[in-house]
Formats: sequence, C-alpha cells, structure tokens
Amino acid sequence: MSSVKMIGVIGGGQMGSGIAQLTAMHGIDVCLLDVDSQALSTASSSISSSINRLVSKSLLSHPTASDALKRLRFTTNLNDLSHADFIIEAIVESEEVKKSLFLQLDKIVKTSAILASNTSSISITRLASSTTRPQQVIGMHFMNPPPIMKLIEIVRGADTSDNTFAATKALSHRLGKTVITSQDYSGFIVNRILMPMINEAFYTLYTNVATKEDIDTGMKLGTNHPMGPLELADFIGLDYVDAGRLGRKRGVGVYNYSEEPKSSKS
Ligand code: NAI
Repeated sequence: MSSVKMIGVIGGGQMGSGIAQLTAMHGIDVCLLDVDSQALSTASSSISSSINRLVSKSLLSHPTASDALKRLRFTTNLNDLSHADFIIEAIVESEEVKKSLFLQLDKIVKTSAILASNTSSISITRLASSTTRPQQVIGMHFMNPPPIMKLIEIVRGADTSDNTFAATKALSHRLGKTVITSQDYSGFIVNRILMPMINEAFYTLYTNVATKEDIDTGMKLGTNHPMGPLELADFIGLDYVDAGRLGRKRGVGVYNYSEEPKSSKS
C-alpha cells in the first residue's frame, strides 16, 4: 500500500476517539464510527477540547488544529468506511463482537484495505480467521491516551503478510510513534509484563498489607513509575468490575474522580 489517505476508526470510546484525533492531527482524513450516536457526540466534544488544550499549551499550531478538525467525520453507518485505505478497530474487548465486526468489514471495505485491531488481549490470528483476507489483518495496539503516548505495539497474526506489517509500521511512524513488534501471544509485550504487577497491587490492597495511597506512592517513588499501579488501573479502565466502578471514565474506580478539576487531563 503506497499511502494511506483515509482511515476508518471503529469505536468512539476512550481509545477510538484518541486514535481519530491523532490521525487527524497528522493530516489524514478520518471517519470515526460507533454504534452509539451519543458516544460519537461525546467523542466529538472531547476531541475538540483536547485539540484546543494542545493549542493553548502551544503543543499544536492553530492551522494544524483547524486542519485536523476539518479532517474528522463521524458516522453510525458502516458503509461510510467503504473507501477507507486502513481500518483501526477499537470497540468493546469481546472476541465475539469483534469477529462479527471483522466479518462485516471484510465484505464492505476495499479489497486492498488493511484491518487493524487495537485489542489488548484477543488473538489477532483468531480475529483474522473471520475474514477472507487474514494476510491483511494485524494488531495495532496504541497506548492510552493515543495522542500523547509514544508507543505502538504491532502484533503479527499467523498469516499477517510482510506488506501489511510494513504498511502498518510506516503508518505508525507517520503518526509520530515508536514501534515494537510482538508475536500473537496473550498480553503481547506490555500487558504481559504490566498486568501481573497490577494484579499483585490489588492483592496487596485486598490482603490489607497497605492502603491504596501507600501502594501507589511506594511504586511511584520506589521504582520511579510516573503512576502507581492502582491509579494506572483506574486510568486504563476496570472493564470486568461488576459494580460498574470502571475507573476514570466512569468517575470512580479504586479512587473517586468526581470532584477532580478537569484541567488535569491531557
Ligand atoms: P470504551 O468502552 O471506552 O469504548 C468502546 C466503544 O465501542 C463504545 O463507544 C461502544 O459504543 C463502541 N462499540 C461497541 N460495539 C461496537 C460495534 N460493534 N461497532 C462499533 N462500535 C462499537 O473502550 P476503550 O477503552 O476505548 O477500548 C477499546 C479497545 O481498545 C478495546 O479492545 C481495548 O482492549 C483496547 N485498548 C484499551 C486501552 C485502554 O487503556 N482503555 C489501551 C489499549 C487498547
């Protein structure tokens, strides 16, 4: 694939909205799709305020910001992605739902289009098996928040071709990111190492070894991590918690964020 001119991002939540913002800020037309129109209007306003914040901090020029806002489109209709050169899927972390989406996408998008998934844990090989183009399916794992974090973990499925890998790497570099490459194993590289630490932090809290604040302070000042593991878990999102305390995105997780000043967000 010579040059990506239009990207379709699917899922307008925490990650998808950030990925759409990032691509638009790098001069690429982007169409953001979600099944939920309310999610799209929330994404639209959070992207605008994030871009305005970057301008006010002199991290983005006025012309780049206004160009980025013009490059963004929002839709609930999958057919609007039929002209995309590259799709980045960032919907709910469910293998069944993702496979059904990939099956539909395979029928709708150009035969040359690459289908990338931002999944944190689902096998790329298994997602690819629901399409007729497994050689054009790849993992493109952004870190949160995508406009700020410098890393993309590229995950090769069993059938991912060298051309698809090269095109995904080139796109990641165009978005200003550093790339690491993982084979298709559970947790890939970053989460494979990070999640045992977060689990241990919860177990430390559960067994009353220390308070949540002391666990986080210990890891911040003791190992030079910018965020403690419990704070980080809230930031990532605790999507398997029954009580709905999913972390920052719901205003409450291990910590309560409901009274936090809005200006601290990036
Ligand atoms: P989220 O819950 O904030 O957003 C998911 C969005 O997908 C929602 O707006 C929902 O309406 C939409 N959606 C669900 N099914 C859909 C479908 N069939 N078609 C279109 N839209 C659909 O989730 P978040 O945190 O943005 O995560 C998305 C993906 O990114 C997951 O696969 C997750 O594992 C991965 N990820 C998350 C990171 C994080 O820190 N939150 C970091 C890296 C990857």
